[in-house]
Amino acid sequence: MNFEELKPQVNAIVTNTNKTDDERLLEICELLEASVKHYNWVGFYFRNGKKEELILGPYVGEPTEHNVIPFGKGICGQVAVSNENFVVPDVAAQDNYIACSITVKAEIVVPIFVNGANIGQIDIDSNTQDPFSEADERFLEFVCAQVSKHM
Ligand code: SME
Repeated sequence: MNFEELKPQVNAIVTNTNKTDDERLLEICELLEASVKHYNWVGFYFRNGKKEELILGPYVGEPTEHNVIPFGKGICGQVAVSNENFVVPDVAAQDNYIACSITVKAEIVVPIFVNGANIGQIDIDSNTQDPFSEADERFLEFVCAQVSKHM
């Protein structure tokens, strides 16, 4: 399924007020993991109140021990500080990287902003090397904007 076809489905999930925020976030993870071949682990991290750390939210994929990530640590922690997308074509080439699974070859993290504040992020791991393009970035920015707007 292509990204343009996924957008209305993402919108339908976030606007379903019969479900809790966590249920809707998990549904987004399930949709993305099932629909995009190169998305093998899909999850959300959110800032822990005013603390400079991220807490793992809903996700789909292999269980991870990294439920808490300090700001600055790993790809996720760096995005918490930089406020910018981070596309990693080859995780083996990154010094500041937290490995979750040996099958992971690439990662993309896109921040979520609410009123200009970076409150969390979507994190995607891929078992394919160098799979992400600008189309992934634009699509995931759309997903994050939908989460920000509706939840
Ligand atoms: N690889 C991430 C850690 C989170 S896992 O991918 C689920 C990082 O370096 O921040």
